[in-house]
Amino acid sequence: MVDIVYLGHSAFLLESSKGKILVDPFITGNPLASAPKDFKPDLILVTHVHGDHLGDAIEISKRTRAPVHSTFEVANYVSSKGAKSIDGHIGGTLVMPFCSVKIFPAFHGSSVDGITSVGIACSFVISTDGKVIYHAGDTALFGDMKLIGEEFEIDMALLPIGGHYTMGIDDAVRAAAMLNSKFVIPMHYNTFDAIRADPEEFRKKVESKTRAKCIVLRPGERYRLA
Ligand code: NI
Ligand code: MN
Repeated sequence: MVDIVYLGHSAFLLESSKGKILVDPFITGNPLASAPKDFKPDLILVTHVHGDHLGDAIEISKRTRAPVHSTFEVANYVSSKGAKSIDGHIGGTLVMPFCSVKIFPAFHGSSVDGITSVGIACSFVISTDGKVIYHAGDTALFGDMKLIGEEFEIDMALLPIGGHYTMGIDDAVRAAAMLNSKFVIPMHYNTFDAIRADPEEFRKKVESKTRAKCIVLRPGERYRLA
């Protein structure tokens, strides 16, 4: 059983009896975040270093000593800023006592000041307490999502729908189909004007065209994956 807590934008806390995993914790400066920052995660995952994903990860790692796991260059970057980190890279799997995390590609950039690249963006398949959750990060649709769906029985896919910088609604529906996920939660929409999207439109389309059931969460809400 895993509780999926939506913190706004692409930030999630995955809570099980075995451990807590915080993903892309953009809380400070997030106009839609409704979360206190006193998390005590066991692991922090960061898909790339754009500010709306790296977010408060370094500060939370410094405070709690929870390691940040990401691709090699991103892990080294957060280490250089004082965070604890565990590096990895696309294709590899981190095995922890309470979870395993496999890193997959994302078609997107990764820069600290809008110019200077730090590694590459990624997505994660997170297996914990018998459930499999895919966090797509920021990405365009890509055909290898079909391979991810073949390798894993995905229970939940967290997919961007806001367009402009990532997939929009129609490509996210195609992603849900390729991943063959049982459930989907839309993310990365309505935080800024450029990424306005209607989650109800996504719900209608994804539920009519795929097997997925769509869960729309407001920031602060949770869904129990039982
Ligand atoms: Ni980004
Ligand atoms: Mn983003």
